[in-house]
Amino acid sequence: MKWRVSPSRVAGRVELPGDKSLGHRSLMLAAMAAGRSRIGNLSRGQDIASTAACLRALGVGVDEAGGTAVVESAGQFSPPSRDLFAGNSGTTMRLLSGILAGQPFRSRLCGDASLSSRPMERVADPLRRMGAHVGTRDGKAPLEIRGGDLHGIDYRSPVGSAQVKSAVLLAGVYADGETRVTEPAKSRDHTERMLSALGVPVRVSGTEASIRGGGRPSPFDADLPGDPSSAAFLIAAGVLTGGNVIAENLLLNETRTGFSRILARMGADVEATVDRNVVGEPAGKLRVGGTVQKPVSIESSEVPALIDELPLVALLGTQVSGVTSVRGAGELRVKETDRIVATVDALRSLGADIEARPDGFDVRGPTSLRGAEVSANGDHRLAMMLAVAGLVASGSTTIHGADAADVSFPGFRAELSRLGGTIEAL
Ligand code: S3P
Repeated sequence: MKWRVSPSRVAGRVELPGDKSLGHRSLMLAAMAAGRSRIGNLSRGQDIASTAACLRALGVGVDEAGGTAVVESAGQFSPPSRDLFAGNSGTTMRLLSGILAGQPFRSRLCGDASLSSRPMERVADPLRRMGAHVGTRDGKAPLEIRGGDLHGIDYRSPVGSAQVKSAVLLAGVYADGETRVTEPAKSRDHTERMLSALGVPVRVSGTEASIRGGGRPSPFDADLPGDPSSAAFLIAAGVLTGGNVIAENLLLNETRTGFSRILARMGADVEATVDRNVVGEPAGKLRVGGTVQKPVSIESSEVPALIDELPLVALLGTQVSGVTSVRGAGELRVKETDRIVATVDALRSLGADIEARPDGFDVRGPTSLRGAEVSANGDHRLAMMLAVAGLVASGSTTIHGADAADVSFPGFRAELSRLGGTIEAL
């Protein structure tokens, strides 16, 4: 599918899918719990559907209707009779591998072409150290796992990755003794918060998290807050076109709100108010107005809190005077695409002055972007970033493969259009 986007102004109250990271974890923790859980405002994105399908193949009842899932679990998993297919979703594959490492049976996890080219040794290695048998194909999927009989480890992760940390902590639930993970920069902490809220305490100190094996999460009932990484596209659309954007019931966990902090540093008006707590996670209202006026430099310690929003930072950088630089973001090279190459190529074809660096990029602004034919390259976040670029580029911008957006935000085009964006599907 193609989208055609033309200059237009975006403003208003945004409607968002439930947070994707919380969606994966809610389904998995509900499956680990014995009993019935209800998850409201579950994202309808394809990645979440992949997690639900894998859990069903492991004998868990997952009924999903109208954005609410009911999970019925015996608190244990059955050996799957077929491969578990994680689709495009790294979170599904990596977190589930942690749970499967604790199960006394064989399973095989595979994914689409993009996921099959992404690094899996980063989870296979610590899970092997805990006692699981984990086979990979040259460090990539498919993953063959024979689990059970795990023991706790003290693991220093070489990457600041919540998926790696979560895989180890989830395996730690099934391990004897204590499992500790230390990471180089603090990544999103949803697994720690949710496990603790559901009765399996995770001790956190700085970049270190530890868990004692043997507990099980309790079943729960939760309405998930909106996804800040999806909100970021609509907020950037408002900031770049002069409209105020308000998101109610948004996840406001600090390990996820790096993009709001960058907007404020670039000169936009940002106001966040936490008004509730959902399974250990702060949620509330975010209002963003004004516009971006100055460039930013982003360094490695800030990267995990806005890793998925960095393509948008590149776009914002094209519209302010000076050099916006991102460093310490080499992880972008192993996302759904090499997001450094994909972002640089796509924005250059719209006329941006942007250079790739080994672990980030430099953008020199301001430039007047010009509409062109561009490709999303099979990457959901690229598709949405290009749609936002099309709102400020002269003429019209045609985005090929735009339906990649369905991976995380199936209603994105409709929502952008409802808020005033001129965007049509061709
Ligand atoms: C996620 C962690 C991040 C992020 C991804 C979701 C998660 O990946 O990019 O979209 O839910 O744990 P890494 O753990 O690889 O940094």
